[in-house]
Amino acid sequence: PAVTPFAVPLPAPKVLAPYRRTSTADYYAVTMSRTSHQILPGTRTDVLTYNGTFPGPTIRARKGRTAVVRQINALDMPASVHLHGGSNPVEHDGGMTDTIAPGRSRTYVYANEQVGATLWTHDHAHHMESEHVYRGLSGLYLLGDKAEDALGLPSGRYEVPLILRDAQFDAAGRMVYTMDDAENRTTILVNGAPWPYMKVEARKYRFRMLNSCNLRIFILCLNDGSQVTQIGSDGGLLPAPAATPVLVLSPGERADFVVDFSKYAPGTQLTLQNMLGPGPTELVGQIMRFDVGEKSPDTSRVPDVLTTLPALPKPAVERSFELRMDEPGTGDKAYINGKTFDAGRIDTNIKWGDTEVWTVTNTSTTIPHNFHTHLVQFRILERDGQPVYPAEAGLKDTVLLFPGQTARLQLTFDTHKGVYPYHCHMIDHSAMGMMAQMKIS
Ligand code: C2O
Ligand code: CU
Repeated sequence: PAVTPFAVPLPAPKVLAPYRRTSTADYYAVTMSRTSHQILPGTRTDVLTYNGTFPGPTIRARKGRTAVVRQINALDMPASVHLHGGSNPVEHDGGMTDTIAPGRSRTYVYANEQVGATLWTHDHAHHMESEHVYRGLSGLYLLGDKAEDALGLPSGRYEVPLILRDAQFDAAGRMVYTMDDAENRTTILVNGAPWPYMKVEARKYRFRMLNSCNLRIFILCLNDGSQVTQIGSDGGLLPAPAATPVLVLSPGERADFVVDFSKYAPGTQLTLQNMLGPGPTELVGQIMRFDVGEKSPDTSRVPDVLTTLPALPKPAVERSFELRMDEPGTGDKAYINGKTFDAGRIDTNIKWGDTEVWTVTNTSTTIPHNFHTHLVQFRILERDGQPVYPAEAGLKDTVLLFPGQTARLQLTFDTHKGVYPYHCHMIDHSAMGMMAQMKIS
């Protein structure tokens, strides 16, 4: 079915309510099930869901309060729930082979000791993660903290999640999943709705944006060329707000940003555009529209200082990683340092407490990749020898590498011990083997 852009209002992802609260913990229950959902007007599409919603519900967690999430697998295949960007013990990390069998449940405990951040719950069952995430096992996890509350940023209904993704639909409205096929995923969804519009008041809004695509990289801008104020990235707030005309987000990356609509006359329509393919510009070149309404009182602020990042200790170890994939037509495997993923192999042994510098290179001449580590929020020291823009200088767990690019990352392993993966987060690529394991001991 053809979709007219800007015809449906932006849905708000449901916020999951705890079924029980104690003085220290919030208890949630989630059922994974196959259901149907209206994504395109006039038709229902089969999807995989957390609690029946597409995308899944948002968990609003608080630093210092434990979230206990019981996941019930009512699907007919194994699932594993990973909290992307979270620092959690291995048994609560949602490992690839640490799956929940059909009909079983599993309780994940998140201590929420890290700073406030835009985190992401998604499936990680080995070899199935890319299709599971594509079909809907994906939801936001917003971790808040007191320091952030004290800033006075736009909040309540002025703090809006924007979960971006693409999808391919056939004529009957079914979602089509073909491994590594970015070209044909040309329907853009925001919070599960195709090219929605959002009515905004002429005041400041805070947007919590996630690129939950399997493969698509977004380079976003407002159609009037004006700047947005980025205040956070993957792992939390930036030290200071950064004005930027573009937001570059590869799969798994997050942008926390503020737009002040008060400078626009009521009635103004602003579109959020995407400047990067693949796909026809009339489809993938636009994301959503903001329809500016009347001015409204606004006591929110964006202070000049948002947070202080941890100091960068002196690194003890240097390592390098090469990302490579079979060129189209020559094979369907993907590699880190020449090896495809093997769950029985430890690729990197790390001493607990160490700080390391990792040089990661995308050796492809045509295919972009990114690099994601579980457990740690790292810092990007430089890309191709250049310092990164302020928006990338905060806490990151995913870094984009266009063909030929090299990034130097600094990571400190001082939280949990155990075996965790790192991988390309263009998750069709990780399913093709671009994934490896580190052991921290
Ligand atoms: Cu978003 Cu291995 O994860
Ligand atoms: Cu990749």
